[in-house]
Amino acid sequence: MSELQAAAKRAVGEYVASMISTGMTLGIGTGSTAAMAIEALGARIREEGLQVKGVATSFAAERLARQHGVALTTLDESPNLDLAFDGADEVDPAFILIKGRGAAQTREKIVASCAEQFVVLVDESKMVDQLGHRMPLPVEVVPMAVSPIMQVLRSLGGKPEIRMGKMKDGPVVSDQGMWVLDAHFDGIQDPDHVNDVLLKTPGVVDHGLFINLATQVLVGRSDGGVDVLGKS
Ligand code: A5P
Repeated sequence: MSELQAAAKRAVGEYVASMISTGMTLGIGTGSTAAMAIEALGARIREEGLQVKGVATSFAAERLARQHGVALTTLDESPNLDLAFDGADEVDPAFILIKGRGAAQTREKIVASCAEQFVVLVDESKMVDQLGHRMPLPVEVVPMAVSPIMQVLRSLGGKPEIRMGKMKDGPVVSDQGMWVLDAHFDGIQDPDHVNDVLLKTPGVVDHGLFINLATQVLVGRSDGGVDVLGKS
């Protein structure tokens, strides 16, 4: 990550932390941008005695939240969250997202869907006119269904590959014990259609298209400023 990108991520992390007040229940996102927000939230808890609790979207987010003194809860205890924050890999003009570079998209979507406000934290490079040109679409699958699901993805115009571990032989295994396919598209023309087809395909646990979930997008600029975009 360049210094300018880190500054942009830090800016949105601090901005979302400033939106949080005592008593809120939170959704705690995964990834390098959400990590900046967790750090900034931890600083407010330490310095101002802010009292919040949050549901983590991954083992990674859970560990980071603990390190920064953010109290954790579960959706069993707190099924209605006030605000969830998370990063994204791409955001289109309708606030549809691609998420899942860190393979956490399934829990991230569950948590976002439980939140009254879902605040997306990105830098300028993530804003796109059309999804799927630069980033593949992650699809979490039950391992025995991987081949039929790859056929479905090809029929949708995607080129799927199994995400492989970097410091482990074989496929990446998600926090749910599932595999992740990365489907490369030459642009996703109709995200609703892709969503419908995938959710009707047996063996698909969930995928990284987030439709009608984001309520606000905070775009960090390299000069440290933040553009706040609301859903129109
Ligand atoms: C985790 O699986 C992802 O959905 C991340 O939230 C997303 O990839 C954004 O990550 P960065 O903030 O690290 O770019």
